[in-house]
Amino acid sequence: MLSNYFFNALNITNNDDLLAFSKKTNIPVSKLKMYNDERIFPFNHDLKVILKELNITELELKLRLGIIDTSTIEDIIKNSSNISKIIESSGKKNSKEKTLVEPIYTTKLGKLYQDDCLSVIENIPKNSVDLIFADPPFNLNKVYESNINDKLTKEEYLLWTEKWVLGCINILKEGGSLFIWNLPIWNTYISSILNKYLNFRHWISVDVKYQLPIPNKLYPSHYSLLYYSKGKKPNTYNNQRIPLEICRHCGGDIKDYGGYKDKLNSHGLNLTDVWHDISPVRHSKYKTRESNELSVKLMERIISMASNEGDVVFDPFGGSGTTYIVSELLKRRWIGAEIGPIDSIIKRFEDIDFHRDQIKEIQAKKNVLFTEEMNKIRRKNGHWLPETLEMNKKNKSNKLTNK
Ligand SMILES: C[S@@+](CC[C@H](N)C(=O)[O-])C[C@H]1O[C@@H](n2cnc3c(N)ncnc32)[C@H](O)[C@@H]1O
Repeated sequence: MLSNYFFNALNITNNDDLLAFSKKTNIPVSKLKMYNDERIFPFNHDLKVILKELNITELELKLRLGIIDTSTIEDIIKNSSNISKIIESSGKKNSKEKTLVEPIYTTKLGKLYQDDCLSVIENIPKNSVDLIFADPPFNLNKVYESNINDKLTKEEYLLWTEKWVLGCINILKEGGSLFIWNLPIWNTYISSILNKYLNFRHWISVDVKYQLPIPNKLYPSHYSLLYYSKGKKPNTYNNQRIPLEICRHCGGDIKDYGGYKDKLNSHGLNLTDVWHDISPVRHSKYKTRESNELSVKLMERIISMASNEGDVVFDPFGGSGTTYIVSELLKRRWIGAEIGPIDSIIKRFEDIDFHRDQIKEIQAKKNVLFTEEMNKIRRKNGHWLPETLEMNKKNKSNKLTNK
């Protein structure tokens, strides 16, 4: 069974076995379940008694659980010829036939498949995609229109995740970029897959509160956005700048820039790896379906930053199609997959002018130090503006030359 690595390793196949093992080792059932469900290697005294009960070494238990430390990797490398023969002869080769899939909806630039992303990925040529963005289900037991099972065991979710992640790595071009949006916990596992094949660029924290505070834990307040490239440097990195943060009411500075004001770039501040300016999609006018829709601003930023016009963008988890709409409007070619209903995606394309205006508005508010509205309120309330700093500088130097 896939979902019970730990119990399988302990030869526990049913509840009676579990109770018996617990009794023999004195490890409570709840703790054995924790090791199994959380996929954690047993520790301290528990480890000692488990090894004794199974009469195996720590290394064998690790191998039974699929845990390979770096020191073991060295031995595997040394014995790779023999080990690969053993694995290959065990007959577990991937001989699955490729199923051809046809797009269900096309636009000037894009192709949308109503299918499992794993089949769609198989049909995309290797080394052909410039940018991949993925926002998979988070396994939080949510109800999706597609009726997918969003309550897999940890083991099942991670196995499935590894499949589509490896597929995405295969189709990414050299120099292409990959972004994965998920809860921090899942992205720690996804990072450990990606670190083997791609180059880490950033763990971007997107400051969004998405659940209530949890007792005895920190208040979860960010989504993780992983950013990797295939090869040392991405082919495309278009710097994105954001406006200064100001007081919503009076337009005044929030931070004290002191004597550095005139050194600020007139195109805005450098984007950091903590994004505070992405709001969840809540307003019904902007929200096209019940849940999970990402903000157009987030996708505009990622696609503008990591691709150019004409590039190919792939998103394996369509949802309501935010990636596809933004790609189309930014003149990127795109490939999409959604296993469930796709009417909300098509509806968005029918109303593409609404999103065109949204993008225009988003773009007017980036790569500037102050947006037009900010300029207005700052001028009205007498706060400094780049031109006033420029004037002050000129006046100062005139005074000095007149002396
Ligand atoms: C979190 S939502 C994506 C939301 C999307 N980023 C947006 O802005 O609307 C995940 C989507 O993936 C779809 N999905 C789940 N498993 C899939 C699979 N194996 N292949 C394709 N789509 C899948 C679900 O039906 C769901 O619509």
